[in-house]
Amino acid sequence: MSDSFSFRDYPLASHTVPNTGTSSKVPRRLQPILSLDDFETAAREFLPKPIFAYISGGCETDRTLRRNREAFEEYDWITRVFSDTSRRTIDVDLLGHTYGAPFGIAPMGISALSAYRGDLVQAHAARRANVPMIMSGSSLIRMEEVHEANPHAWFQAYVPGEPDKIVALIGRVRAAGFGTLVVTADTPVSGNRENNVRAGFSTPLRPSARLAWEGITHLRWLFGTALRTLVNHGMPHFENSRVTRGAPILSSNVLRDFGARDHLNWDHLKLIRDNWPGKLVVKGILHPDDARRSCDLGAQGVIVSNHGGRQLDGTRATLHALPDVVDAVGERCTVMIDGGFRRGNDVLIAHALGARAVFVGRPFNYAGAVAGESGILHAVAILAIARCVIQRSTRSAAMLRRRPSKAA
Ligand SMILES: Cc1cc2nc3c(=O)[nH]c(=O)nc-3n(C[C@H](O)[C@H](O)[C@H](O)COP(=O)(O)O)c2cc1C
Repeated sequence: MSDSFSFRDYPLASHTVPNTGTSSKVPRRLQPILSLDDFETAAREFLPKPIFAYISGGCETDRTLRRNREAFEEYDWITRVFSDTSRRTIDVDLLGHTYGAPFGIAPMGISALSAYRGDLVQAHAARRANVPMIMSGSSLIRMEEVHEANPHAWFQAYVPGEPDKIVALIGRVRAAGFGTLVVTADTPVSGNRENNVRAGFSTPLRPSARLAWEGITHLRWLFGTALRTLVNHGMPHFENSRVTRGAPILSSNVLRDFGARDHLNWDHLKLIRDNWPGKLVVKGILHPDDARRSCDLGAQGVIVSNHGGRQLDGTRATLHALPDVVDAVGERCTVMIDGGFRRGNDVLIAHALGARAVFVGRPFNYAGAVAGESGILHAVAILAIARCVIQRSTRSAAMLRRRPSKAA
């Protein structure tokens, strides 16, 4: 494609390539952004507090949110030398497509509230960079539009517990043209996100003086995202939870319909498999037996995930859960992972532990919010930078050692 994006040529600031003028090709507001964490700092300023809290928060004490990150601290590289890294590549074959990097964009609900046309921005950026992107079922832009923007995007469903609604939703996803369906399995009930309540966030958002104040004190977001959306596209609604349109994002009295999600069991997964002809991935796996059972029922992939620490506080760090899942199904199923990945180095650790690909959530959301498509491409380039550090196969280039002292 003519508008494809090559992160290999992207002029990220580097201490070995001092500013030669190429960095001016990077939009000015992105030049100080050298790590994904820098996007969080920028987004904290850019976004109204309730929206930033919704994206950044975990649930209850944020124990799992912290654990996901701390797990990386427990691994050390023991590098090997003189092993010719000149032909290194980070391409990856994933469920029938060769992507340019082993990381992609995790599904995130209501991304079009933080970034103007957020799901489309993510879809475009992912297509240009040739990285995987999973669109959320809790989104405010119709799935048909997102698929048109990126035919390789995957669709994530929060399937309702009622069989007839499941079959109808799958029919729509299929008709839209998606090739990969991701079923999120770790949300039978909503997480206890008291941080959202404290910050004044809810879905739908309730109109209030506090919300209005947040809008007028974040003018770039107000004009560039909220009012621009209202003027050009009207009030956003949940478009993809069902076959028909759901609740609006702003309402003083409407309640969202989550369906009977708490009824979901393995028979529902079988029903989904019987009705979905494409690739099937189960997201939210932590136990090897659940991975095994998902594969037995015909899933081609599993994503080891605790929902970024947003569902059940105290669940295990995903990195610690990964090796057992790989042992259980790695030979016959594609094992992927998310939760706290912020550096290319983190991606390499998961790769060394047997994950085929990694998904990243919050940072891509922040990147889209503060700088749209160019922000997401900048984030992709930052994550890809570790390609310079360790060669093509981490298994041959360096060994990973887990420090024995800490408990999993
Ligand atoms: C703002 C936000 C919205 C999310 N919405 C969804 C969703 O709609 N469906 C889903 O399966 N996971 C959702 N997740 C979880 C992510 O897909 C992913 O598991 C998690 O964010 C990964 O952790 P990270 O943000 O630390 O990278 C959401 C996460 C965030 C931060």
